[in-house]
Amino acid sequence: MNLIDLHPAAADMHQLVREGMARQPRQLPAWFLYDAEGSRLFDQICEQPEYTLTRTEIALLNASAAEIATRLGSGVIVEFGAGSARKVGPLLAALQPAAYVALDISASHLRDALAALQPAHPRVPMLGICCDHSQLDALPPHPLLEGQRRLGFFPGSSLGNFNRQEAVQLLQRFRHLLAGGPLLLGLDHPKPAQRLEAAYDDAAGISAAFARNLLQRLNQDLQADFNPERFRYRARWQADHSRVEMALISCCDQQVSIDGQRWDFAAGEPLVTEYSVKYSPAMAAALAQEAGWRCAARWHDAADSLSLHLLEAAD
Ligand SMILES: C[S@@+](CC[C@H](N)C(=O)[O-])C[C@H]1O[C@@H](n2cnc3c(N)ncnc32)[C@H](O)[C@@H]1O
Repeated sequence: MNLIDLHPAAADMHQLVREGMARQPRQLPAWFLYDAEGSRLFDQICEQPEYTLTRTEIALLNASAAEIATRLGSGVIVEFGAGSARKVGPLLAALQPAAYVALDISASHLRDALAALQPAHPRVPMLGICCDHSQLDALPPHPLLEGQRRLGFFPGSSLGNFNRQEAVQLLQRFRHLLAGGPLLLGLDHPKPAQRLEAAYDDAAGISAAFARNLLQRLNQDLQADFNPERFRYRARWQADHSRVEMALISCCDQQVSIDGQRWDFAAGEPLVTEYSVKYSPAMAAALAQEAGWRCAARWHDAADSLSLHLLEAAD
């Protein structure tokens, strides 16, 4: 399997941890959640009855793929944060792109995802790029990308992991990476707090395990000594920010060491693991405009619970 590995170096991860631990509240980049185990747990979250986003978006893609393909036109599909690449199938079938390029931070998961996808689309050449797409200045040169229009795909409401300023910067970055090509952006809409809090704190405890795995990952990869049992998981809707905040809350006063540096946690202090910002179509249009895109079309499910926006470069 074709895979280019541009994963951030351990030294860069250490630096990001130092910066994140110095923030108020403490927060690490959401991609830290996705080591091999985190990616496996995320797939399990997608199967939970409370988490309807994945099933709804896949059904919408299946229903609308032919129309979306016509609007996207020909070229190479570039998917950001592809994960298990379970959503791109209908687009590959309808569009028959020149190639499929999948970006993700989790190298082993990406390799497995492409190996599983390739047999169903034998005529579509595939390439994986393991990277932090929020820091990528250019797609690495590759024959599959040469001279091709780039068709961006960013489903799963993953943009919601970023605060507003970061989201604008990421969409600007994608505009640059796609070199004038369009972006199909999947965004979840605001919903009643109870429904969202249940979606991100499922009864089976998979979301909580996914968050706690971050601490295990820090222990394994960055020489930390977190005791995950001393943190409880919380997901709560913050209406002022139109987002669900997911956090691990320290159960007691405690000290944690990361690569030899000590950090105090007071009882009740949060370590934010990720946000999930929810965008109404109007909010999405305003965000896109600020980042130099315009919403050229929108597809949504019957309940209008999420959207696939077709963004085109504004100039
Ligand atoms: C919420 S999951 C969505 C997965 C899939 N796109 C879907 O819609 O089900 C986010 C995915 O993006 C990847 N990811 C998160 N942050 C990333 C980053 N900064 N750069 C590259 N990949 C990232 C994760 O590894 C994960 O596979």
